[in-house]
Amino acid sequence: MARSLFLLALASLALAQNTATAPSDVYAAQATAKSSSPVSFVPGLAFDRFITIWLENTDFEKAKGDPNLAALAKQGVALSNYFGVTHPSEPNYMASVAGDNFGNDNDAFNKLPANVSSIVDLLEARGISWGEYQEDMPYAGFGGYAWPNQKTGANDYVYKHSPLMTLEANSKSARRLSQMKNLTGFYDDLAAHKLPQWSFITPNMTSDGHDTSVTTAGTWTSNFLTPLLKNEYFMRRTLILVTFDENHTYSAQNRVFSILLGGAVPPSLHGTTDSTFYNHYSELSSVQANWHLDTLGRWDVGANVFDVVARHTLDRPRSWDAVTGATPTVFLNQSYPGYLNSVNSSVPIPKPNIHLVRNTRIVSPLVQLQWARSDAPSIYKDTVEIPDAMHIPAGY
Ligand SMILES: *[C@@H]1O[C@H](CO)[C@@H](O)[C@H](O)[C@H]1NC(C)=O
Ligand SMILES: *[C@@H]1O[C@H](CO)[C@@H](O)[C@H](O)[C@H]1NC(C)=O
Ligand SMILES: *[C@@H]1O[C@H](CO)[C@@H](O)[C@H](O)[C@H]1NC(C)=O
Ligand SMILES: *[C@@H]1O[C@H](CO)[C@@H](O)[C@H](O)[C@H]1NC(C)=O
Ligand SMILES: *[C@@H]1O[C@H](CO)[C@@H](O)[C@H](O)[C@H]1NC(C)=O
Ligand SMILES: *[C@@H]1O[C@H](CO)[C@@H](O)[C@H](O)[C@H]1NC(C)=O
Repeated sequence: MARSLFLLALASLALAQNTATAPSDVYAAQATAKSSSPVSFVPGLAFDRFITIWLENTDFEKAKGDPNLAALAKQGVALSNYFGVTHPSEPNYMASVAGDNFGNDNDAFNKLPANVSSIVDLLEARGISWGEYQEDMPYAGFGGYAWPNQKTGANDYVYKHSPLMTLEANSKSARRLSQMKNLTGFYDDLAAHKLPQWSFITPNMTSDGHDTSVTTAGTWTSNFLTPLLKNEYFMRRTLILVTFDENHTYSAQNRVFSILLGGAVPPSLHGTTDSTFYNHYSELSSVQANWHLDTLGRWDVGANVFDVVARHTLDRPRSWDAVTGATPTVFLNQSYPGYLNSVNSSVPIPKPNIHLVRNTRIVSPLVQLQWARSDAPSIYKDTVEIPDAMHIPAGY
């Protein structure tokens, strides 16, 4: 009893230390950090593995015109109506795994409490392995705000681009922390044929274009993907989404250039363009549709499922005339009052809408249980439209 209490105390000490950013602390933690690579083989309807790579802050036309990204698009499907959901970075990353950004309008050291679930909870409920790969994260499970290049001081790993880390359900679990690794971990898992079935890849602040340009981001992506696209183990029934977190120009619509690639994209579609309206919530709905997962009961439920996936499921694209029509009116470029909003955080985390059912996919029983006693209002509807009106709060 005393011994297990001692071990528990040690474990929580280790978790508290993983946010330290002084080099001596980081190197000490690096020496003992645990990483793990769970594998699973749960067949999906359209793909057996999903990998997304996020690049940074580039307007649609500029990214489309990058020669490396254009060459990659020819080997897959270009998405011409894919939107970020707000500005700046962190809320977009958060949205893609948690189904909302809770009014987040900043890149601070924000934490979502443990009762906010994410894609990780949905995947684990079905025994589907997952991982996060962050280039230049100093060790698996590093929870600090940033880890710059120790020689040059240049930005490298940043918390704001590490979406699963922003959820305490993940960052307070030693097991889950061990599945958040760097790109060295990616190459180890690739070589050992231990890649997870779902993963999120963030290049460092140079590689992803944030501190550089779309030319650097395009070159990095091409260098990273070209050998992988020839790797049979990697490619087999894999769907890769290359996207950008947000459009660079805040006053413009938040459309971002995105590409779907990999063995799960039929060759007959290579070089084509899909103009269906998607946004970062489509990353959740497409994965949910593929494995018939439960949902988070937030904006994930109504989001359009990627056509290459929907062809294998009963999901049909929902049109959004305002987006595809002659005078687009939706921008998805603002924030709104919410738990993480810097102007008005007096609004509680909305309750997931447990009544939403999309193609027989229900809200996760875990989510339903966690929120059963909440009297917070629910704002979520089964729709692709997230009205800009919701994004225009008093005080902005
Ligand atoms: C990646 O993480 C491992 C430990 O998890 C560490 O040993 C290694 O130095 C890290 N690599 C980089 C490039 O930061
Ligand atoms: C970022 O990653 C690239 C390789 O992908 C590497 O060359 C570079 O040193 C890393 N860090 C910085 C700050 O550029
Ligand atoms: C969003 O775009 C609209 C239309 O261009 C603009 O009026 C508004 O100021 C933008 N919002 C932000 C936060 O930049
Ligand atoms: C941002 O994306 C929109 C598409 O919605 C695009 O028309 C625009 O060119 C981008 N912004 C700029 C300044 O290029
Ligand atoms: C915060 O936002 C809510 C919801 O829009 C609103 O009811 C409330 O009045 C706002 N509070 C402040 C201080 O602006
Ligand atoms: C979720 O957790 C937060 C932080 O611990 C707490 O304030 C809130 O009441 C919880 N919500 C529910 C529905 O339990």
